[in-house]
Amino acid sequence: MPNFKCKILKEIQLPFQKDGVEFLWLAKGENVNLLFTHVQQESFFLQIKKDNKKQEWLIKGEKHTKPSQIGYLQKALLIFKENFTQDIVCEAVALKHTRLIQKTPLIVNNIKELLDKIQDKKQIYIEIGFGSGRHLLYQAKQNPDILIIGIEIYTPALEQVAKLALSENLNNVLLIETDARLLLSVLESNLVDKIFLHFPVPWDKKPHRRVVGLNFANECARVLKDTGQFELRTDSYMYFSFTLETFLNFSHLKAEIAKNKNLEVSSKYEDRWKRQEKDIYDLAISGFGKSENLNKKQKFAIEILKFNLEELDYIKNNFKNNVFKGENFFLHIEKIYVKDKEIIIKIAFGAFYKPEHIYIRLGEHRTDFVFNEPFKTKENLKAIEKLREILYSYIKQ
Ligand SMILES: C[S@@+](CC[C@H](N)C(=O)[O-])C[C@H]1O[C@@H](n2cnc3c(N)ncnc32)[C@H](O)[C@@H]1O
Repeated sequence: MPNFKCKILKEIQLPFQKDGVEFLWLAKGENVNLLFTHVQQESFFLQIKKDNKKQEWLIKGEKHTKPSQIGYLQKALLIFKENFTQDIVCEAVALKHTRLIQKTPLIVNNIKELLDKIQDKKQIYIEIGFGSGRHLLYQAKQNPDILIIGIEIYTPALEQVAKLALSENLNNVLLIETDARLLLSVLESNLVDKIFLHFPVPWDKKPHRRVVGLNFANECARVLKDTGQFELRTDSYMYFSFTLETFLNFSHLKAEIAKNKNLEVSSKYEDRWKRQEKDIYDLAISGFGKSENLNKKQKFAIEILKFNLEELDYIKNNFKNNVFKGENFFLHIEKIYVKDKEIIIKIAFGAFYKPEHIYIRLGEHRTDFVFNEPFKTKENLKAIEKLREILYSYIKQ
């Protein structure tokens, strides 16, 4: 992450605008201030941190609000450095005006971008944890009219497979770096034709880390069309039987099983297991029926929060770093910042497997999300409801 250190910080008059960079407001924390910054269409925080021992300032991007292109952050840092600082101690990167790094095409920046891009697609396959991508690329070549979405949590795999897809002129591929469990929970219902999960990590000793679980099975059933199919291929008998058992919780499903079936394409992991003469199990589940649409009208509990100035003061003075763990969600109220009469709180929250970090502004006339609204997953809705409860418990004391 680009950053620099300086000895002198000049007075910052806001709002400030130069060369397409806008600094709009400052929120003050204990040792760190956050500068709300706008470049092109994107907003993020610059973090201004004081090192009291060395009497110097560290300026960098706040890691949970990073813009989609690192170049925007570099540009903002450069403008900040030129206009508000003196005596630079060190620079961790060469800041260049022109360097706007693009991600490889076919890789989308975030879930929202993916949802926008798939809106009018008639047929969609999803591959979870595509790794070296052999099966995903094979499906893309065999089915030029079907959009193949690849989900991975391992960044190098995304870059590598995107390059391979581009070199083969495959334009029916979109790749996203996220946890498959989160992505499934925000997709429209009755949207997807097939979901492939090939050779997932079996997590024999930590089953809660498996991609498959009851929640996952419910989301598969919801996002798959009534003609859709979920397909597991694994060398782990335990994972195979665990998955079958999980889907047997549904009353009307069809399960087809096969052992040591040969496919036209063999993945890197599959090759490894075949060399070791391990058995390979296939499980194909279908017959999900039609599911109800996602309830998009549901609101986050903070939208109805209102505080008077006295209450805001009370929250400010009695703020506690607070962690709450629910059955399948958590909430960590991490930090508080003050912006004039408003309070900005930073929270980590959501599902255990996919924590999100966001900033919420509490004001006299409004309570809102500083950046984009999070996705309305069940876990996120519950965590924000818990936040509302905790904030009210502060002021009702
Ligand atoms: C054992 S590898 C198998 C890769 C590939 N399917 C194959 O057969 O060669 C499992 C892959 O799943 C990815 N993965 C693990 N958990 C995931 C999750 N929750 N969402 C998306 N990908 C995940 C890992 O990064 C890894 O690349």
